[in-house]
Amino acid sequence: MIDEILSVVEKHEKWRGKQCLNLIPSENVMSPAVRRIISSDFGHRYTARDRFYMGTRFTDEIEQYGEKLAREVFRADTADLRPLSGHIADMIFLATYAKPNDTIMCISPYVGGYPGMWNPGLARLLQLKAAPFPFSKHDMNMKVEEAKKAIEQIKPKIVIFGASYITFPYPVKELAQTAHENGAIVGYDGSHVLGLIAGEQFQDPLREGACALFGSTHKSFFGPQGGMILADKEHGETMKEAIFPTFVDNAHWNRIAALTLTLAEARKFGKAYAKQVAINSRTLAEALFDYGFPVVCRHLGFTQSHQVILEYGDYSMGRAFAEKLQEVNIIVDCGVRIGTCEVTRRGMKEGEMLKIAELIKRTAVDGENSEKIRKDVAKLCSEFHKLKYCFAE
Ligand SMILES: Cc1ncc(COP(=O)(O)O)c(C=O)c1O
Repeated sequence: MIDEILSVVEKHEKWRGKQCLNLIPSENVMSPAVRRIISSDFGHRYTARDRFYMGTRFTDEIEQYGEKLAREVFRADTADLRPLSGHIADMIFLATYAKPNDTIMCISPYVGGYPGMWNPGLARLLQLKAAPFPFSKHDMNMKVEEAKKAIEQIKPKIVIFGASYITFPYPVKELAQTAHENGAIVGYDGSHVLGLIAGEQFQDPLREGACALFGSTHKSFFGPQGGMILADKEHGETMKEAIFPTFVDNAHWNRIAALTLTLAEARKFGKAYAKQVAINSRTLAEALFDYGFPVVCRHLGFTQSHQVILEYGDYSMGRAFAEKLQEVNIIVDCGVRIGTCEVTRRGMKEGEMLKIAELIKRTAVDGENSEKIRKDVAKLCSEFHKLKYCFAE
């Protein structure tokens, strides 16, 4: 039995870790040092806010260290690393600031918003009404004047920026002002773009009017899977009080220790990484467009994030495309979103983006022999197995 279990893990490691070109924008890879911390003794331990457990000397120290680094990297008054995922971080924010029957305004999942925020998701769980931002799919962004009017009319309790399909910064500054004038609290779900925000590449929600920035730590941010909340003093302290014991009892301390080291990596290497992610996305988008793929937002330069979006109009076509790519070990989702965060972390640059576009075209347009493309994919991956933007071991 042990052998069987270990063998599945090994097979996965070999396939997804070595042979696949991973282009899922929700995923990334941790540095070897961060991965090691995940299996440290911290993974066995408990702490509680009421100091019920003894033996927490170093757990407390790592938490303080991590929060300090997070405050520095995101220039936030407060940081909390306890949320177990981006979804839980979203829930903490919503549940702290809205009560049943309140309305939240966010991007509808029908145009790329996060379905977990909507119905059936947190909105249903917390009995909130979800109102969609007036949104242009053509521009992948809010329609500013219409959104201002909608905020004035609907008067949502909370306005949340951020989405699962995200290519451009949002007009946070313009809309936050209207939201504040109408009594709303403004938050930014940065699950997808946290690594770009850390690298000062995308936008700076906490300076643009959001009181809190929260989300996943493992998408464009290259940490362990989990969540994080950065906020101004007032809102951050309120959420800190609310977290235990409602949303997190024991936090996962191995993850938090690993996240602490990731934050140190982000502080030192985050700008160079985020810049390269954006360059890579744009290069890949242009090359795919030139091959005839339906890349969105050509009129805006395609993308400024870690995502390149292909619009097939029909989910089954997106799935067929993603399945075809999976046959040659190129991994994307059925959206179709193509992410450059992991390949950038592996050290790939513009030249490799052109190679990736060509591999995709050979697979999906030319219908070339899969075995041959799989070999070329494996060769490309083998040249980039050592991670960049992290401390030398
Ligand atoms: C915008 C957004 N917010 C939150 C989440 C949830 O993140 P997690 O998977 O860390 O719970 C996702 C997941 O993809 C997302 O796209």
